[in-house]
Amino acid sequence: MKSKILRLLIVGILLSTMALIATAQLPKETEAQKAERMKWWTDARFGMFIHWGLYALPARHEWVKNYERLTNEQYQKYFESFNPDLYNPKEWAKMAKAAGMKYVVLTAKHHEGFCQWDSKYTDYKVTNTPFGRDVVKEYVEAFRAEGLKVGFYYSLIDWHHPDYTIDRVHPQGQEKDTDYAKLNAGKDMNKYREYIKNEVRELLTNYGEISIIWFDFSFPGKNGKGRADWDSENLLKLARSLQPGIIVDDRLDLEDVEGGWDFTTPEQEKVAKWPERNGKRIPWETCQTFSGSWGYYRDETSWKSPAQLIELLAESVSKGGNLLLNVGPTARGTFDERAQARLKAMGEWMKLNNRSIYGCTEAPAEFVAPPNTLLTWNPVTRRLYVHLLAYPLERLNFAGIAGKVKYAQFLHDASEIRFSPVSKENPNDLSFTLPTLKPPVEIPVLELFMK
Ligand code: GLC
Repeated sequence: MKSKILRLLIVGILLSTMALIATAQLPKETEAQKAERMKWWTDARFGMFIHWGLYALPARHEWVKNYERLTNEQYQKYFESFNPDLYNPKEWAKMAKAAGMKYVVLTAKHHEGFCQWDSKYTDYKVTNTPFGRDVVKEYVEAFRAEGLKVGFYYSLIDWHHPDYTIDRVHPQGQEKDTDYAKLNAGKDMNKYREYIKNEVRELLTNYGEISIIWFDFSFPGKNGKGRADWDSENLLKLARSLQPGIIVDDRLDLEDVEGGWDFTTPEQEKVAKWPERNGKRIPWETCQTFSGSWGYYRDETSWKSPAQLIELLAESVSKGGNLLLNVGPTARGTFDERAQARLKAMGEWMKLNNRSIYGCTEAPAEFVAPPNTLLTWNPVTRRLYVHLLAYPLERLNFAGIAGKVKYAQFLHDASEIRFSPVSKENPNDLSFTLPTLKPPVEIPVLELFMK
């Protein structure tokens, strides 16, 4: 009898370990299947990031709690004062759409640990502030209604949760003499790991179809955190099981795991070329701010100009990537006028020029961009787009494309651009004749119909 029970027990343990191993597997996909799953994102090219949390109140960087080594008690006043009375995500969604953005990612929780939805698993949430409304719910509905794909940013880092161990990027860590063992006595990361799974389950269950999840971020090594601290594989497995089509960033510390990430995330960085891994080009998206900080920063003056922002977008597409451009709304719940002006300018440009962005990618190597231009290419229509960053006087010479162009026009008004060989000596190069006056668009684009 006893041995029978023992045998049953062993079989039971064996079966449950096998089940565990099986659940730890991430769904397998071929390259073509992955490309198909990500197609809408690849074609979209342009999305909006929104960093919005309690840090909008101090208005001096979303890392303010860390930079100023604030304790939970010192930070509490922002929680108690959070009341964005002008929050109207329908207006946000309209502005994003008008700017030409096709998807959006909101910080459901940033490093400060504050949750912008009515989570069952914490009191540190928006519905317990004077505001009292579920920000995430209204956001999801508003952006979806405008036809944008909706995503969440979820911070793995948490500077508020009692079981989150103090590490080298924690407001109470990072000093040379920090006694981590002492500070962390009694903290239980198992509970925190459970907590983030519960929260991610909520976010990916209660708000309909979620197209992107942006986990942020890992910093393995001494007094750091990585895959074992987050239980990254199981967290990701959970996310993919709840939202099979979801697109995931690469900050879970699973770069070497098959299915452990979908795209890479050069942050505030202009890449030199299309990023590769193991010699293969990979999906990528650069995330960028208007002015340096992600959260609303009242006194920051380093705002990029509309021309710089449009260039950033064209530049990303010219290397096969996406741009996720960030807005940090104010603590009233508005986009400030500097953000609005830039979104508007991008929208004006996109309205007439988005054919050089949507569905486009890096041009084939046979086309070499003339100086001060950026090329993008639509492989379906076989059109080549030449973005004129510095408007040339009278003509643009383009080497090596004679015999390949059927027709050329300005993209913004479809007016013909005539061309002819540069000279007898350079029969392979074409010269495009441009009007002296720069057309009234930030960055004019030539649309070349290729044979
Ligand atoms: C960083 C920062 C953060 C920002 C994010 C966006 O990892 O910690 O504040 O949310 O990048 O990429």
